[in-house]
Amino acid sequence: MKQEIIELYNNPPEKWTAKHKALFTAFIDALNKGEIRSCEKENGIWKVNEWVKMGILLGFQMGELTIYQWSEAKPFFDKDTLPEKQFTLADRIRIVPGGSSARNGCYISTGVTIMPPAYINIGAYVDSGTLIDSHSLVGSCAQIGKNVHLSAGAIIGGVLEPVGMRPVIIEDDVFVGGNTGIYEGIIVQNKVVIASGVVITASTPIYDSVREKFLERDSGNSFTIPSKAVVVPGSRRLKSNPDFQIACPIIIKYRDDKTDKAVELEQALRI
Ligand SMILES: CC(C)(COP(=O)(O)OP(=O)(O)OC[C@H]1O[C@@H](n2cnc3c(N)ncnc32)[C@H](O)[C@@H]1OP(=O)(O)O)[C@@H](O)C(=O)NCCC(=O)NCCS
Repeated sequence: MKQEIIELYNNPPEKWTAKHKALFTAFIDALNKGEIRSCEKENGIWKVNEWVKMGILLGFQMGELTIYQWSEAKPFFDKDTLPEKQFTLADRIRIVPGGSSARNGCYISTGVTIMPPAYINIGAYVDSGTLIDSHSLVGSCAQIGKNVHLSAGAIIGGVLEPVGMRPVIIEDDVFVGGNTGIYEGIIVQNKVVIASGVVITASTPIYDSVREKFLERDSGNSFTIPSKAVVVPGSRRLKSNPDFQIACPIIIKYRDDKTDKAVELEQALRI
C-alpha cells in the first residue's frame, strides 16, 4: 500500500478510477483501526510517516463534491471520499449528543470521552482514557497520548502540508488547559501541564525559568516541551522596542504534588 500511495501522490492520474478509490478505502480502514499512523515513536524519537500524509492528501484530490443528506432541510457538502466516521456502541466511546464530529480516517481508542462540540480531523490519533472537552479541536494528523486532558477550547493544530512537517504531538498524561493553542509540530512530552491561555507555535520562544534558558529548537525545527514542565502565559520585552511586551510562555516549574492536585483526572468521567 505504501508504495502504491507514494507512486500515486508523485504521479497523479488525469482521471481517478474505482481502483484508486478502493486503495483509498483500504488506507482509511487501516487509519481507522490505528494500524498505520501519520507519526509514531521509533527508538524514542517521533518519526513522520510522510506516505500516510500523502495518502490523506490523495483522498482530498480524488474526492468529488457530494451531498451528505443528514437533514433534508440542511444538507452538508464535502468530498465523497471523506464522510463522517461511524461509531457503534461496541466502540465503547462516549460521544455526548450535540454537535461533535470525527472525520473518517482518525483513530480514537476505547475509553475516550468527547464533549460537544469537538472535532477530530483525519489522520489524528487519540489514545485511551483521553478527554476531549467542548470546543476542542484535534487537528489533522495530531497525535494525542493516553489519559490526556484537552480542556474546553484547547486547539491542537493540524498539519497536512508540507507532507514532511511534523504534526503536534501530545504525549501521555498531559494536561492542556482551557483556551490554549498548540501548533506547528510542537512536541509536548509526558505529564506536561499547559496552563490555560498559553499559545505556542514553532515561532514562540519559551523560557525555562528553572533551567534559566530559552528552549532550543529540536530536529523538527520546532520545540519540545520537556516532561513534567508547567507552562504558564508570560511576556518578554520586544527586542526592537523595549516599550512593548510580546508573548513568551514560561516554564514556571516542573510538576509537583500541588500541580497534580490541580489537574487530577476524574475517573468517573471516563468509561
Ligand atoms: C497551571 C495550573 C494547573 C496551576 O498549577 P500549580 O502547580 O497549582 O501552580 P502554582 O499555584 O503552584 O503556581 C506556580 C507559579 O506559577 C504561577 N501560575 C500558576 N498558574 C498560572 C497561570 N495560569 N498563569 C500565570 N501564572 C500562573 C503562579 O503565580 C506561581 O508563580 P509565583 O511563584 O511566581 O507566584 C493552573 O494555573 C491552570 O492553568 N489550571 C488549568 C485550568 C483549566 O484550564 N481548567 C480546565 C477547565 S475546562
